[in-house]
Amino acid sequence: MTLTDPTTTQTTTRAYLLTHYGPDGLTPGSAPAHAPGPGEVSVRLEAIAINPLDAKIRSGLLAQMLPLPLPVVIGSDAAGTVLAVGAGVTGFSAGDRVAGFFDSGAFAETAVSRATRLTRIPGGLSTAQAAALPTAAETATRILGMLEPAPASTVVVNGAAGSVGSLLTQLLVRDGHTVIGTARPENHDYLRSLGATPIAYGPDMVDDLRRLAPEGIDAAFDTAGNGFIARVVGIVDAPRIVTIIDFAAGAAGAIVAAGDPTALTITDAVRDVFDRAASGDLRVEIGAAYRFDDLPDAVALSEGGHARGKIIVVGAGVDPAQIGIDATA
Ligand SMILES: NC(=O)c1ccc[n+]([C@@H]2O[C@H](COP(=O)([O-])OP(=O)(O)OC[C@H]3O[C@@H](n4cnc5c(N)ncnc54)[C@H](OP(=O)(O)O)[C@@H]3O)[C@@H](O)[C@H]2O)c1
Repeated sequence: MTLTDPTTTQTTTRAYLLTHYGPDGLTPGSAPAHAPGPGEVSVRLEAIAINPLDAKIRSGLLAQMLPLPLPVVIGSDAAGTVLAVGAGVTGFSAGDRVAGFFDSGAFAETAVSRATRLTRIPGGLSTAQAAALPTAAETATRILGMLEPAPASTVVVNGAAGSVGSLLTQLLVRDGHTVIGTARPENHDYLRSLGATPIAYGPDMVDDLRRLAPEGIDAAFDTAGNGFIARVVGIVDAPRIVTIIDFAAGAAGAIVAAGDPTALTITDAVRDVFDRAASGDLRVEIGAAYRFDDLPDAVALSEGGHARGKIIVVGAGVDPAQIGIDATA
């Protein structure tokens, strides 16, 4: 079934192409607008989320690990409206609001993805909020599955103001844990609003942890790296530390959670996060929003490393108010 939307009959779609590695590597242009193949869904993207991975790819940092045939449309997470579904797809139809990971690249007006990488957006969640969730929810729930804190224990989240950290902090608080979160002092009130006790990650971090948790810390979740594990390993047992960023930490005995970005799917745990966010149980923070024409600026902000919650780009030709965005940068 297809919508009578002109974009379904378009052969090209507006997109940002990664034409070369470097700060100006994202070039506005067009890309083929693929019809959905078997098991696939095509979507008009109304809200596009920026992940730190996007800047790492654009810079060329991952060129060897993740070789790409340039020019290519990059970007992973987005939300929008289903245009058409391919053969064998059940559970989605044209007109549905969906969010997820996009195989053909999310930095575009329309995109195609495997149905297993998408979920319907529950009522109560704006399209922008839904776009903010896929990677953050997948990562937070995956690492909680790898390292489960003891009941009602004290845990630390490094980088608690970021998109993964914000969600992880809330999940831990809801599970009854005492969460100490690291962030810049400017983000300390925000961390308190998530239910965490904030500390700065500067020179006093270790002393602050000892002072706030004299009985000890059961587990640590590292979403920000920067030498965190070497500093806390005297306070937290190395096997009780999981990191999503410090891939050398396995040598110190910590758990390294490396995710293959092309293999991420919508799990039941991710769907549960969507439902809890829709019900208001979990807050989805959108720290900044940009117009589609300014998408490279959004990637540059992410690259700066101090985003709060998620950075969202409004889809091409989309009214920001329609997706729950008040103002763009
Ligand atoms: N392995 C995986 O499967 C996986 C999955 C998803 C993401 N990742 C990676 O995990 C990292 C975090 O992702 P994200 O989406 O949460 O990023 P993000 O939204 O950009 O957040 C990064 C956060 O790090 C904080 N920060 C910066 N410098 C810090 C420091 N020295 N110590 C502690 N916190 C610091 C910032 O907070 P302040 O402004 O308060 O400093 C910012 O909020 C990225 O590198 C990403 O590529 C890995």
